[in-house]
Amino acid sequence: MWLPCGCTSKYVASSFARRILASHLHVSGRSRCNVAAFMPEAAGFEGVSGRAALRELSVSNSESFWAAVARHRLSWSIPFHTVQDCDLSRGKIKWFEGGKLNVSVNCLDRHVHTCPERVALIWERDERGSEMKYTYRELLEMTCRVGNLLRRHGVKRGDCVTIYMPTCPLAVASMLACARIGAAHNVVFAGFSADALAERIRDAQSSTVITVNQGVRGGKVIELKKTVDTAVESCPTVKQVFVAMRTDNPVTMTARDIAMEEVREQKEMLKEDVVCEPAVMNSEDVLFLLYTSGSTGKPKGLVHTQAGYLLYAALTHRYVFSYHDGDVFGCVADIGWITGHSYVVYGPLANGATTVLFESTPIYPDPGRYWDMVERLKINQFYGAPTAIRLLLKYGDQWVNKYDRSTLKTLGSVGEPINTEAWEWYHRVVGDGRCPVVDTWWQTETGGICIAPRPSDPDAEIVPGMAMRPFFGIKPVLIDTEVSGELLTSNNTSGALCMAQPWPGMARTIHNNHQRFIETYFQPYPGYFFTGDGAYRSEEGYYQITGRLDDVINVSGHRIGTAEIEDVVCPAVAESAVIGYTHSIKGQGVYAFVVLKKGIDVKEADLSRQLNGMVSEKIAKYASPDFIQFAQRLPKTRSGKIMRRVLRKVVESDLEGLGDLSTLDDPSHKCIKYLQSCFCF
Ligand code: WTA
Repeated sequence: MWLPCGCTSKYVASSFARRILASHLHVSGRSRCNVAAFMPEAAGFEGVSGRAALRELSVSNSESFWAAVARHRLSWSIPFHTVQDCDLSRGKIKWFEGGKLNVSVNCLDRHVHTCPERVALIWERDERGSEMKYTYRELLEMTCRVGNLLRRHGVKRGDCVTIYMPTCPLAVASMLACARIGAAHNVVFAGFSADALAERIRDAQSSTVITVNQGVRGGKVIELKKTVDTAVESCPTVKQVFVAMRTDNPVTMTARDIAMEEVREQKEMLKEDVVCEPAVMNSEDVLFLLYTSGSTGKPKGLVHTQAGYLLYAALTHRYVFSYHDGDVFGCVADIGWITGHSYVVYGPLANGATTVLFESTPIYPDPGRYWDMVERLKINQFYGAPTAIRLLLKYGDQWVNKYDRSTLKTLGSVGEPINTEAWEWYHRVVGDGRCPVVDTWWQTETGGICIAPRPSDPDAEIVPGMAMRPFFGIKPVLIDTEVSGELLTSNNTSGALCMAQPWPGMARTIHNNHQRFIETYFQPYPGYFFTGDGAYRSEEGYYQITGRLDDVINVSGHRIGTAEIEDVVCPAVAESAVIGYTHSIKGQGVYAFVVLKKGIDVKEADLSRQLNGMVSEKIAKYASPDFIQFAQRLPKTRSGKIMRRVLRKVVESDLEGLGDLSTLDDPSHKCIKYLQSCFCF
């Protein structure tokens, strides 16, 4: 029996809070403030004096905090008995065990119960001015139809369904339908190539894929179904491909394909009932896999589970952006990335928000697209990437000023560091100097935002370009990268950014490879979760992210492992080394050094074109190198390791800063001088 959130949770929250207050908290004597008015989930922590004290408590007494919040925020069919069972040294993370719930019920049914006609989705289609709205009732019906369709075609609890679709309502309904019937989803960004898609389908062992005939982006048609056809040729597990229609153009259907919606006589989805019994899921059952790049060639399928992930996405969505009931939330990320999962789909829908699905690009049909959309859809919170802000500021203020942006209250930034110029422009021009800009730091692994200027007092200071303050329950630490394991306790210092405490939103494992999960995140600094990023902590204790410490680069906010690009095999190439370099729009660009096999006679320009094509085909267009430099040899250590540090300095034209070269296998440094002399910039 599923109860609307109001009934169970309020009661449980208050009785639970009394218990905690009696047992754990000794806050008497402090000045009283109405924390509940700011955060109703924390109503039980009555004696806590203000938001800063509440944050402190969320770390020092994290179990009580998360228990109260989980009971208040989520609708449970059976309450949990254990708040957490975590051991970071072993990569063991479990939250809310014993609890049972359904994520789609939390995102849909409970809102349909209270406000069925509230708009859940506004689909900002590629074609400007043709947006479509879907109420919570309609989205629930669509989700139930897809859920029934999947069930009727044999998809069971525990299966993994791959979704290769553009950002559109049916993609959201497909994700929620998986959640409804207890299947995991594996959304693959629709810009990935057939090879990259196939690799993810194989690793996830999906037997079902959902796609569309064609995508439309920036006025261009993208042949998604054809890409799926190519991909599944090398995926023996795939038994069925559901095909929805985004355009009117027919596609060739094979015996494996099932037309999904309203297509001629088939009308598969319309046959289905609008009621679909939700599966009762355990808190720690898998909700989704999402592949992301690491520093080795093979992408990792990070696993997120039901209750903890949803809770964390919902809470951060509410407090980082100051979302209030009735607001229109506009996150322009694609659903193929974690930002799309947490802040287009799960966080906003769990909070009953109206969420925007943005299908287009920032400059289609012109550079006013975002702000025209803000005016038309009356967006209250806008969440985007620095790369787009940097691009738009180059087109000038007139594209922003043309449109009414008075509905905007908060501006968010995510995916890469935001430089001061872009931050200032975003704040001054887009936000008319009145909207706080929240630079949010997080990762696919963290499930939701971990460091951001808010929540804090509305007038607390925000420093441009700084992510600033840890979220509730987050305990960041900096560790010395030289003397491994040494905790840096002072301020005004830089180090490896780690988390000293688990939180409900963190990834649980890497699909089929728990050992890699442990080695990547928990072994570098035992007892801590290592983020792979470096950070600086200011004199005031604020955090600023300084960039990756591993061989992952960040192109327009998209993570890519340098090894993934190097692994693209070309018969003419003996070896290659890829590094990131500073790019004025993309944040980082891809610079490849390539050594040809002996005796290869080919024009460098032709081979460059060929290599670029191969990387686009094997991975995605954004991974394609901006510069390819041909070299006779690469700088290596005497044990044969490529010295990327040296290559980075060559690209930065900083030969002074080459540092210790005693391990270089070429004592006269001829190779470095040669590389420098043919440098492509
Ligand atoms: C980087 C995206 C600086 C960082 C949500 C991280 C950032 C990686 C910021 C995760 C930020 C993300 N400032 N760097 N505000 N946000 N990053 O998994 O290097 O696609 O580790 O998740 O992006 O990328 P992912």
